[in-house]
Amino acid sequence: MFDKEENFKLPTLGVNIDHVATIRQARHSSEPSLIVAAALAELGGANGITLHLREDRRHIQDRDVYLIKETIQTRLNLEIAATEEMIKIALDIKPDCITLVPEKRKEITTEGGLDVKKNLEHLKRIVSKIQDNGASASLFIDSDEDQIQASASTKAKYIELHTGKYVNSMHSKQCQDELKLLKLACHKALDLGIKINAGHGLNYNNVYPIACLPGIKELNIGHTIISRAVLVGMERAVKEMKLAIKGEL
Ligand code: PXP
Repeated sequence: MFDKEENFKLPTLGVNIDHVATIRQARHSSEPSLIVAAALAELGGANGITLHLREDRRHIQDRDVYLIKETIQTRLNLEIAATEEMIKIALDIKPDCITLVPEKRKEITTEGGLDVKKNLEHLKRIVSKIQDNGASASLFIDSDEDQIQASASTKAKYIELHTGKYVNSMHSKQCQDELKLLKLACHKALDLGIKINAGHGLNYNNVYPIACLPGIKELNIGHTIISRAVLVGMERAVKEMKLAIKGEL
């Protein structure tokens, strides 16, 4: 499972800074600054910045996304629910990539992948709106063959594979099975010509096997980096994640 295949390239790192905004929103104040956090993440080696503009606005606010888009030097990946209201905002902001995620009001974080198969016509329309507007569309899905096939038929440039089941099975025998499913999913996506990102729940200890999967372009990682940044600083936290992705931490 750890064998790197021919022409293997390690994935780049998208740093999700939502939880910098979570700290700020705890007091509805102006600190910590998201702009400074994004700049320090970039100095630490982030290849992109990811923000999730949730419908309940529990952390990231609309203004944050406009400001980050103006100030970052790398790429902006904006995660949103696939609703007309959110698409309208996202198209106005013009991020480099728009990742469509399922959203439930009461969840603590994004729980599962999109059901692309069930919502195919709706998602086809939204993907084409996004890509006609100049951004890449990405669909956050579980490692399931049918969902990958359906995603390819929307013509989205990317899928993002949900790594939550792998992470949650870390200390059980099921973990190797989840890794195998992710590997199969990568091969299926590569066969269909759809680019692959991955993320959710990854941390400094579990990221390397995911980084070694075939064809993954970028890993989107948030909670663990922000948690470490609180203790050691953002630049160092990002640098250490880049090392962990290389298996060198
Ligand atoms: N990818 C997607 C689509 C997400 O919704 C999230 C959480 O916002 C992440 C990646 C990052 O997850 P974590 O914060 O657990 O690293």
